[in-house]
Amino acid sequence: MIITIDGYAGSGKSTAARRLAETLGFELLNTGGMYRAVGLLLSRAGIDIDAPERDRSAVARWMQSLRFDRCCHRVQVNGVDLTAELYTEELGRAASRVGTFPEVRAQLQQEQRRLADDLDIICEGRDQGTTVFPHAPVKFFFYASPEVRAVRRVAQLLAANQPADLEIIRQQIIQRDRQDESRSIDPLRPADDALRVDTTTQSPDDVHRLMLEVVERCRCQR
Ligand code: DC
Repeated sequence: MIITIDGYAGSGKSTAARRLAETLGFELLNTGGMYRAVGLLLSRAGIDIDAPERDRSAVARWMQSLRFDRCCHRVQVNGVDLTAELYTEELGRAASRVGTFPEVRAQLQQEQRRLADDLDIICEGRDQGTTVFPHAPVKFFFYASPEVRAVRRVAQLLAANQPADLEIIRQQIIQRDRQDESRSIDPLRPADDALRVDTTTQSPDDVHRLMLEVVERCRCQR
């Protein structure tokens, strides 16, 4: 069974996905980590992702050399674990940028289908319910106000002893939302059959309970 969780940056989907996977004993696929890894590896390969023009077929060929492993909370590419390097603001923006490249999306979506094949798995990202797994029986779409998401992000950065300015973070969140929603292929949007979850006011416990209820209801109907 595939459960998809899509939604905005900082809307709480990763935490909810991890908790749901633990409760249900499902595997977990964090597709944002895959886009972050591509952002990191493309810049290491010397490709300027912000350049107005790029050699698309060269990027497509380079993408085919990447093989992702499924290892729950971690992101491993060609046998190398990149997780510790991925969760910076800079790579969040790079991931959003490479997410606008059709040749990157096509290859990552193919990898995601391969990794999820035949499993009980929760797939989290921006396009899982709309494009990658349109037939998933349970789909969620998470959102929350930019203000609340900025406050949460600042708390995470401060807890990790990193500098954080609330207004700058809020502006960055709004800019990333805009890039994710307005890209020409697979823009961030709820699937028609996704349950929308507003985490502005709902507690993580409430969200978890709600998700479990939906999954149980679906299992009863199958
Ligand atoms: O979930 P995250 O914040 O780690 O994702 C980083 C960026 O990656 C996000 O802003 C857009 C891109 N992304 C995407 O385009 N499609 C996905 N399925 C997941 C992430």
